[in-house]
Amino acid sequence: MDQTHHQELVAKANQFIEAHHNEVNKQSYPHYHLAPRYGWINDPNGFCYALGKYHIFYQFYPYDAKWGPMHWGHATSTDLIHWQHELVALAPSEDYDRDGCFSGSAIEHDGKLYLIYTGHKVLVEAGDDSIAREVQALAVSTDGIHFEKLGVVIEPEDEGIHNFRDPKVWKDETGLFHVVFGATNLKHEGEIRQYTSHDLMHWELVSVIKEMEDNAFMYECPDFFEVNDHKWVLATSPMGQAPVGYNRQNPSVNSWQSGSFDGKTFTPDTKLYEVDHGHDFYATQSTSTPDGRRIVLAWMNMWKLPFLNYSHHWCGALTLPREITYKNGHLYQAPVKEAQSLRLSEHHVAAADSTLKSTFKTLTSNAATELQFSFKPDENSAEQYGIAIGNSIRLFVDRQTKTLTLFRLDLNATSYRALPIAWDQEHKLQIFIDNSSIEVFIDDGHDTMTSNFFGTDHTVSLYATNGQAEFKGLTVYDLERPLFGA
Ligand code: FRU
Repeated sequence: MDQTHHQELVAKANQFIEAHHNEVNKQSYPHYHLAPRYGWINDPNGFCYALGKYHIFYQFYPYDAKWGPMHWGHATSTDLIHWQHELVALAPSEDYDRDGCFSGSAIEHDGKLYLIYTGHKVLVEAGDDSIAREVQALAVSTDGIHFEKLGVVIEPEDEGIHNFRDPKVWKDETGLFHVVFGATNLKHEGEIRQYTSHDLMHWELVSVIKEMEDNAFMYECPDFFEVNDHKWVLATSPMGQAPVGYNRQNPSVNSWQSGSFDGKTFTPDTKLYEVDHGHDFYATQSTSTPDGRRIVLAWMNMWKLPFLNYSHHWCGALTLPREITYKNGHLYQAPVKEAQSLRLSEHHVAAADSTLKSTFKTLTSNAATELQFSFKPDENSAEQYGIAIGNSIRLFVDRQTKTLTLFRLDLNATSYRALPIAWDQEHKLQIFIDNSSIEVFIDDGHDTMTSNFFGTDHTVSLYATNGQAEFKGLTVYDLERPLFGA
């Protein structure tokens, strides 16, 4: 390993960002979601609590607002909400990672922070990432900021395997390290493999914890963790599964399943199912907190769907961190309680002002807003009711399809996602709006919908068409903007 060469490439990226971040057009830039200071980000990587704080790394191309040879960007936080940008952690510098330091994870061990990631090397002409040699590689840091590469630790058994990536590491109670990652086997079927190690350097293939389901030829970014009730959750982003009804309508989909795990075999008690019903949610990664919660976040974009304007010099953001719990056979994702620290002011709308009849009402034009309200579909006569954001978003209850629908109306990106809802029950919505994104938590996180939008009018209105609707307990919060000027 040529550590000097790596440090030079990291320094070059840091200098470039420092010299150019003022050129970023902040028109659509998030106010409280983590986004790059300059350039492109995709998957969250290395999410962990280590050396006394939270670390989040991410797939990062620092030189342009588009995907390119992947670096690892880095930010730290003490509360999961207020993030501080740190120096670039990894740059592609060795033969085995020359075309990218792809996704991976992190773990603290013996007072040091280890990153395990995929080295990506294209075998044909540059740019064709489908025929590549992928290996799992290790890097280490004593200060949690500067990383030294330790080389390749897992190689494919067969050189015909081109998808072999995205290791997620954890340590069990006996001190044994585990990783899971996705691979396409020689039959072109997706599988998730588990390896174990005593020292993070030497790894042994132990089992295949997931085989091909519904034609998935690759499982990107698998994550595997225990939640309450001894349930294990396999979260992954399968490639190749066809849309079914309201599900899997995005070009790539993030799906989870729960089950039991004996250290070797995962026995699911559900099929893989989509956990977010919006347009932009991919490549989840989770970690546990010192107080025992399991927290997940995702890339708040999606391959092959429209992205924000490249000329703005930034692209991509991460979702709010979400706490995962298992209740009555279902996985919930609720915003972490620390998100309440973003609230600057709280406005309760009187009941008389939150019942609408064939009209609309402007609520706020603050681009950093949290909203909460409840509704009972069978008590409302309106054909459609919900909220609108400028001319970009309609989030509405729809009488014809009996769904909650998230409709993005921006030109060139017009598309809706819909979630069937029980008609005779009260539902609660918690909605986070952040300049160009909306995250909707339904019934305390029983379901979520996450999407970007592209318009610049942030006026949030309530509306009800062809009838009456009551928005119960309507509360509007103005939120802090900690990341806007960072
Ligand atoms: C998922 C993914 C990963 C890969 C990374 C490359 O979005 O395709 O499988 O490691 O992005 O940036």
